[in-house]
Amino acid sequence: MTSATRRQFLALAGAAMAGASVAGCSIIGGGDTSSGSGPSKIDRPLDKTRTLVTYFSVPETDDPDNMTEDEENSTHVVDGKVLGNTQYVAQIIEKRTGADVFRIETAENLPLDHGTLEDLALEQQEANARPELKALIPNLEAYDTVFIGYPIWWYDLPMPVYTFLEQHDFSGKNIILFSTHGGNRLGETVGAITEKLSDSTVISNAFTISRDDMENTEAEVGNWLDSLG
Ligand SMILES: Cc1cc2nc3c(=O)[nH]c(=O)nc-3n(C[C@H](O)[C@H](O)[C@H](O)COP(=O)(O)O)c2cc1C
Repeated sequence: MTSATRRQFLALAGAAMAGASVAGCSIIGGGDTSSGSGPSKIDRPLDKTRTLVTYFSVPETDDPDNMTEDEENSTHVVDGKVLGNTQYVAQIIEKRTGADVFRIETAENLPLDHGTLEDLALEQQEANARPELKALIPNLEAYDTVFIGYPIWWYDLPMPVYTFLEQHDFSGKNIILFSTHGGNRLGETVGAITEKLSDSTVISNAFTISRDDMENTEAEVGNWLDSLG
């Protein structure tokens, strides 16, 4: 992310907290659970054999050395391996819960250049596009709890995550949300997903962490997972 864009996200987040609406999109910068209407806890302990962690994440490089500022912003390096921020959160949830993992990927490779990725994401949002996915979850019936993780893109879900939500039948399942962001926290994504998956139980206690606070992720995810049960 360029410094200018970063400043813009932060400024917009501030404006949102003051109740403003920006560029036709009303955004909120408030608490982690502010827009969900579902229960804040799951009603029984997680059964790891019936839990799936899904995530969308776009690390803008796979080279841990000599990163640009944009590349650093979109990645977290663990043991010399480059992960996307959301991917890193997913990995911690996977380790703590012992659940299976499914990565949401688009059929077409996304550009890694930050500006080009931002432009494409905005174009897709303005067109309300549903980018094709590389694969769908092959055995969704095997799970009754599904974590869904995503970065905030242009104050909203990345459009491939809308494809993901619409191309699976999540009815009857517990849905637990997590995200990473550059200033806008969860935006209105919890409310949007709760509305979209009206036949599922979307837990209102969603997790979000800023890409600038990734060093605290392990502890924060642990506390959040404890607060769910
Ligand atoms: C295309 C694009 C749009 C973004 N839009 C926003 C935004 O509107 N608000 C925000 O807080 N952060 C925004 N960000 C920052 C990302 O949410 C943040 O860097 C996130 O941690 C990236 O996660 P990832 O590494 O898992 O892909 C945007 C990033 C990209 C690439």
